[in-house]
Amino acid sequence: MSHISVFAIDTVQKAFYTSALTHREIVGILSSDKYDEALFFYADLARKTHNGNDVHLKGLLEFSNVCERNCFYCGLRRQNKILKRYALKPDEIIAFAQKAIAYGYKTIVLQSGENNIYKIDDLCGAITAIRDMGAHVTLSLGEKSREEYAAYKQAGANRYLLRIETTDPSLYKQLHPSMSHQNRFNCLTTLQELGYETGSGSLVGLPNQTLSSIADDILFFKESDFDMIGIGPFIPNENTPLGDERGGDFVLALKVMAIVRLLLPKINIPATTAMETLDKNGRIRALQCGANVVMPVVTEGEYRKLYRLYPGKICLDDAPRHCRGCITGKIMAIGRGVSATNGDSVRFGDRLAAQGG
Ligand code: 5AD
Ligand code: SF4
Repeated sequence: MSHISVFAIDTVQKAFYTSALTHREIVGILSSDKYDEALFFYADLARKTHNGNDVHLKGLLEFSNVCERNCFYCGLRRQNKILKRYALKPDEIIAFAQKAIAYGYKTIVLQSGENNIYKIDDLCGAITAIRDMGAHVTLSLGEKSREEYAAYKQAGANRYLLRIETTDPSLYKQLHPSMSHQNRFNCLTTLQELGYETGSGSLVGLPNQTLSSIADDILFFKESDFDMIGIGPFIPNENTPLGDERGGDFVLALKVMAIVRLLLPKINIPATTAMETLDKNGRIRALQCGANVVMPVVTEGEYRKLYRLYPGKICLDDAPRHCRGCITGKIMAIGRGVSATNGDSVRFGDRLAAQGG
């Protein structure tokens, strides 16, 4: 790192040791490439120091693309009439999960558009069945009532992912017609109160998003003490109102992720699929800049193509068994291993230990 400025190293090194940065420092890091080398180096060191070398592989089961929301950036939005919709039956969900577990996955992430197609009892049945097969369950179903979240927790769900997408109130309003930003914050608090290992995250490069607003997002993640954070670049989808907008920048998204790693050293951070969509080695680069999780899709056939949040999604024609082998090979090629544990974050383990549980 001989040719980078001492000032850049100082700022990033301080963040490594203190897990803290000011808003001004974050904006400074995001606006100049002079920090990049030190940032990526220390983010990787933080990942390694606190989480070790193993990567958690989690099987992403996209069980329905039906969505009642209309988020401006997303291909699953209700008003996208071009997309053929599907909703797997509970026994189909369980069958895909069973196959994924046989391939070695120790966590199944059940993700869908936000819909009310499923009876709570049916989803509870699928969650319990997956737990009984020995895997942990992460849910990503959007905004629900406290009662519904509690029922899933009771059925055995371990974790919940709900990205705030952006903490900027006016940007949120522009992009999420008739959705309440406050309710989304409330949902995240409820999930934490219910004892879920709680994940959030954001999109980077949305139209009208400023670096200052991205810095606010990062500080919100820190303040909320989440267990997992997913950062993805915005990728314009031609079947949405943002189809002609400029997409997010890969390196900026990588930098946001690396800063999150410095501020929250013990959480789980996925190398997101959206990153690999923008850079053909994107997930591996992310794993070398702070990430410690990969979530390959475990549904098969047509469903893989129909869960089309954005264009260019990777591995659409691959079988889940192949995907697992492929990513395992890439992980081993950079000297890392695949975790044999259920995939809790170190942060969550500390939290449980502090509660005496
Ligand atoms: N580009 C990138 N990510 C997207 N998502 C939805 N649409 C897009 C897009 N066009 C992300 C959102 C959501 C997650 C499931 O997918 O952040 O939370
Ligand atoms: Fe639905 Fe989620 Fe897409 Fe919004 S981001 S339209 S809630 S699937």
